[in-house]
Amino acid sequence: MPTEEQIHAALRQVKYPGFSRDIVSFGLVRSVRVEDGRVVIQLELSTRKPELVAPLEAECKSTVGSLPGVQSVQVDVRMPGGGEGAPAGSMPVPRRIPGIRRIVAVASGKGGVGKSTVSVNLACGLARQNARVGLLDCDIYGPSIPLMMGIHQRPSLNEKQQIEPLANYGVKLMSIGFLVDGDAPVIWRGPMIVKTIQQFLGSVAWGELDYLLIDLPPGTGDAQLTLCQTVPLDGGLVVTTPQEASLGVVRKGMGMFQKLNVPILGIIENMSYFTAPDGQRIEIFGHGGGSQEARRQSVPFLGEIPIFTEIRIGGDRGTPVVVDAPQSAPAQAFLQIVERMKQAMPAASPQPL
Ligand SMILES: Nc1ncnc2c1ncn2[C@@H]1O[C@H](COP(=O)(O)OP(=O)(O)OP(=O)(O)O)[C@@H](O)[C@H]1O
Ligand SMILES: [Mg+2]
Repeated sequence: MPTEEQIHAALRQVKYPGFSRDIVSFGLVRSVRVEDGRVVIQLELSTRKPELVAPLEAECKSTVGSLPGVQSVQVDVRMPGGGEGAPAGSMPVPRRIPGIRRIVAVASGKGGVGKSTVSVNLACGLARQNARVGLLDCDIYGPSIPLMMGIHQRPSLNEKQQIEPLANYGVKLMSIGFLVDGDAPVIWRGPMIVKTIQQFLGSVAWGELDYLLIDLPPGTGDAQLTLCQTVPLDGGLVVTTPQEASLGVVRKGMGMFQKLNVPILGIIENMSYFTAPDGQRIEIFGHGGGSQEARRQSVPFLGEIPIFTEIRIGGDRGTPVVVDAPQSAPAQAFLQIVERMKQAMPAASPQPL
């Protein structure tokens, strides 16, 4: 009979559907039990979709079933809201956070397209409409929310030993940038990042929120997938530049949400064009790629944001343009997207008891 370690090793050959990474390193294998010729594997998944669950179950069974001495394999799949509470010390699965009505992540196929700029301005735009908004910076290696939101402080702990989020412009904020020293490089391994994100969700006193926006790190690799799995997402926004869209990179950003069955609220085209001082419109990276891609993929196109010096200055100065000059053209571009995003949003999830 194989040992539990040998079964874990075998399960490392089972890849998460559509990904190069295995289910053990994704933290999905909660426990393995061996009893006589029988193996019981417990998986924890964030989705109930049979098209993901069934092939995973089947592959676990065939991989472990082929080990010498194994007579039968039982795969138990647990999912969020599945009833029984998780035993202490186990890997938590995404569970709805009491008090948070909707969680929306902002991703892109490539770095530097304006995810953080969009996250910040959408969050401030929602707050201007008196929505209760939080913004969580999931970029552990290059957090930009503290700079863009103009706040650098150590958060304090409340009497329940929860981290009190900082707040500016009516938005509650959490970022690793508040916890580590200025320029100190953050050299963390994947599991620590996941743990940190889990704490940002579970141990931060967010209170009641209508929206929690999540600024994801650049790219769509396994780290981003793991983050999205850690967080119970209600929707995803994909930011692209026209150039990125024309090269099909935007599909990568969408693919990540699609694999996790997270509804894509829409595509936002950033850095669409530049208006020269003489009024001439200059389309540096081409134009319209985002909307074309949205049509092709049958997802909403939420709008385009031109290149405006005010947007970059606002970001560098810590006063988002939506706060600093709400009537300006760049702010209006963001506020229009806020409206369309709200329309694209599914009804708020019911609050857990
Ligand atoms: N529409 C815009 N007009 C002018 N500057 C912009 C615009 N959008 C973003 N920028 C600037 O481009 C730079 C990159 O933007 P940002 O940091 O938001 O991108 P990102 O996708 O979050 O990057 P990363 O992938 O590194 O997290 C920033 O300096 C930002 O101020
Ligand atoms: Mg960013």
